[in-house]
Amino acid sequence: MNELDELAHERLIERLESRAQVNTFSDLFEKYVNRIEIPEAGKILEVGCGTGVILRQLAQRHGFDARGVGIDHCKSFIDAATKYADQESVADSLEFRLGDAHNLDFEDGEFDVVICHTVISHVTEPAKILSEVARVTKKGGVIAIFDGDYSSLTYAFPDHSFGRKMDAALSNTTFNNPRIMCDLPRLLPQFDLELTDAWGDAVVEIGQGSYFKTFAETYAPYVKNSGQLSDQTVDIWLKEQNKAMENGTFFAACNYYTYLSKKV
Ligand SMILES: C[S@@+](CC[C@H](N)C(=O)[O-])C[C@H]1O[C@@H](n2cnc3c(N)ncnc32)[C@H](O)[C@@H]1O
Repeated sequence: MNELDELAHERLIERLESRAQVNTFSDLFEKYVNRIEIPEAGKILEVGCGTGVILRQLAQRHGFDARGVGIDHCKSFIDAATKYADQESVADSLEFRLGDAHNLDFEDGEFDVVICHTVISHVTEPAKILSEVARVTKKGGVIAIFDGDYSSLTYAFPDHSFGRKMDAALSNTTFNNPRIMCDLPRLLPQFDLELTDAWGDAVVEIGQGSYFKTFAETYAPYVKNSGQLSDQTVDIWLKEQNKAMENGTFFAACNYYTYLSKKV
């Protein structure tokens, strides 16, 4: 890994940790996890676990007695996940391993619950992920998929036409599948996954930005690197977002969806 990659990973680690503390966002995890029955001494897999913050939050819940495994294809995230689990005294019930979500290194039917929290929009072959999570889940087990529909991502900007271009560039450069969450009702049954519950939530920040502030700071450099918009226009956009936050006039929003399905 070169120095630039290292910096980018550090920034992503910070973002994953900080967004999990934003109530608007963490409430969405609570909302679906509260509806999942985790069997006593059950086994949970998080695919694309990043820094492991979701599994750590789960392990810290009252009465948690399951075993969690998190996999991610990025070594620096797995190292961070292992370190934080140790620091937060949940390492006994959690384990983090390097792995590719497209090719899970687990037996068929090994898990009671599989969680994909903001990962399916990032992977290169979402259908392969669905096939793999279905394979490693027990019959009757639960698969929770939570992510944004990033075609709905929007930041206010006085020039609406440029604002929409920047929204689209942020979505296209950050995510491999910005619209995948709209396809799941059609895709899930193809992998023996029966939809048991699904709903949508809008994440909206008005006046001040927290979740969308770090989103803009983390991903605007990707737009520059892609060459879709000039560095200068991206800087003007970022400056406008910061000014809006200083003045309390900020606005940004995106729709998020949760799908709970059962392996049949
Ligand atoms: C937005 S992060 C979400 C992390 C974590 N689920 C959370 O909510 O904090 C997406 C994660 O998916 C991982 N990822 C993307 N493609 C992957 C793949 N093919 N196999 C394993 N992990 C992958 C990334 O490295 C990153 O950690």
